[in-house]
Amino acid sequence: MCGIVGYVGQKTAKPILLDGLSRLEYRGYDSAGFALNSGGKFTVQRNAGPVQELIDASTHMGLSEKIGIAHTRWATHGVPNELNAHPHRAGQIVLVHNGIIENYSQIKTRLISAGVEFHSQTDTEVFAQLIEYHRKRSEGTPEEALIHAIETAMAEVEGHYAILLLSLDVPGKIFGVQFGAPLVASQLKDGCVIASDIQAIIPYSNQVSFLPKGEILVAAEGKFEVRDPKTKKFHSVKTETIDWSADKVEKNGYESFMLKEIFQQPMVVADTLSGRLPTTEESNFIWDNLEAHRELWKNVQHVYLIACGTSYHAAMTAEYFFEKWAKLECRVDIASEFRYRNPVFQPNTVVGVISQSGETADTLAALHLAKEAGLPTFSICNVPNSTIARESGLQYPTKAGPEIGVASTKAFTAQLTVLSALALDVAHLRGHPQLTSFRDLARLPFDLDKVLSQSETYLKIGETLKDKRIILFVGRGTMYPIALEGALKFKELTYLPAEGFAAGELKHGPIAYIDPQVSIITLAPKDEWYAKTISNMEEIRARGGHIITLGTDGDTEIKKVSHEFISLPESAWGTQPILAAIPLQLLAYGCAKALGRNIDKPRNLAKSVTVE
Ligand code: M6R
Repeated sequence: MCGIVGYVGQKTAKPILLDGLSRLEYRGYDSAGFALNSGGKFTVQRNAGPVQELIDASTHMGLSEKIGIAHTRWATHGVPNELNAHPHRAGQIVLVHNGIIENYSQIKTRLISAGVEFHSQTDTEVFAQLIEYHRKRSEGTPEEALIHAIETAMAEVEGHYAILLLSLDVPGKIFGVQFGAPLVASQLKDGCVIASDIQAIIPYSNQVSFLPKGEILVAAEGKFEVRDPKTKKFHSVKTETIDWSADKVEKNGYESFMLKEIFQQPMVVADTLSGRLPTTEESNFIWDNLEAHRELWKNVQHVYLIACGTSYHAAMTAEYFFEKWAKLECRVDIASEFRYRNPVFQPNTVVGVISQSGETADTLAALHLAKEAGLPTFSICNVPNSTIARESGLQYPTKAGPEIGVASTKAFTAQLTVLSALALDVAHLRGHPQLTSFRDLARLPFDLDKVLSQSETYLKIGETLKDKRIILFVGRGTMYPIALEGALKFKELTYLPAEGFAAGELKHGPIAYIDPQVSIITLAPKDEWYAKTISNMEEIRARGGHIITLGTDGDTEIKKVSHEFISLPESAWGTQPILAAIPLQLLAYGCAKALGRNIDKPRNLAKSVTVE
């Protein structure tokens, strides 16, 4: 969702801000803007639409200013137009904001009765006006008055947010604060860059500081510091090295980030497993924090896995792994439901949250709920040092590298890889060793290469789906969550109706709409449910449905009941879901391309869903 960039230093700020916004486009947005301090006045440009329009509209502006803030907005309060785009001006300040101010309406009413005029429909302008209102009434130097005003406003607003602001009274500094939405800063040789995520910083430095919650940032050319609200003292923030480089966020010759990320999957799985697989029957998977890992799982009797979207489908798949291999009760829930239910926890429960971005608001809230209940927690995140990763008890990171395409692909297969290794390892710890399955994981990158070698076929079949009335994805066992994931990928990329179902559920409803205009993607590798899935296929065929099957290489029986057949390499039960995910990603891709959709940035979607 929204993205923030700020720069203060010796260089011209505008190109750095615009480059940062372009790198944050993947998060999803509908308008963009920047503000520069032009010595006694602000230069502000805001546009509805793509960052490119902002770039085009501002070619003659900001040619010398060395300080500025910028923003991409994903509309929450107020339509996506120029007036609602950030930055928002209030008197002497301009402000950009990520997150939501929940009590903005009450504050706005109060400020209006105090004579404040509003120009937009946003909660952000309320925050800006509130700070300005207090700034005018605060004492001390301009900097002290501003910091006091920010602190006073923070005590009045409810919600989670990250803000950056400029003040005409304190011309060479950027102020900001994160309260539940991340801000990252990096000190460069010639200045300081601040952003809502590391993608905007990585071209300049891999040395970054994650700003602590609730402490006010003051950034100048030579250094940035934060102010502890209790002691009122400034201090520096620990610097961390990020193992990502700028070339990892380029397309490297691919027509889209998503296609690049699909083709990276063999390497991603290999990286995630690298140096960690056990070598003998007695040994376990080699996690980074082995002692803490053993301690966490020592007495566990129940595991809860919580996530949203694609990450939720990874969790659903893992439920089969934990039950079958580790003989451990596993419950899976959607974060937005879990957080508002009243979950009852058994003793010896561990809660795992799964998130590519590590910033999903509902997943973060679910993690907080588990921690408040006193339960041990772990996370499986892809973005290093993300909020969820930092706040969870133990981390099992995926090593997929930056995922830019909004539709998650390589992060999903990396999550499945970590989850299967974890379930196998827990099985081992609980006295149910499954060494063969570890060996199956080891050959996964080669099998993934084989699957990808047929990419052209999947893309072509995908194209043929564009005229169908609805696409139905069905499977049993671990193929059921993969069917759900296939349908999600298809919907988000093509904007066409698609549904995922457990094959056994067909007779309980969806069979009613089967006709030749419906395509049914059936996931039927040779597993213990194979025969039952074939019966379901016969039922679909009898009603004229068009069947595309994903089955095991050389399966002639299933070909007879299918109109089209996609072969998957023969593989073990535990690795089938990872292999089956790839053709589904490419089917959706092929169809979306034929329809001329925006593959990397499907409409209305955000990469990082930081509001609930
Ligand atoms: O970053 P997260 O894994 O927490 O994100 C969860 C969902 O928003 C995400 O998986 C979403 O469904 C993707 N667009 C799916 O491709």
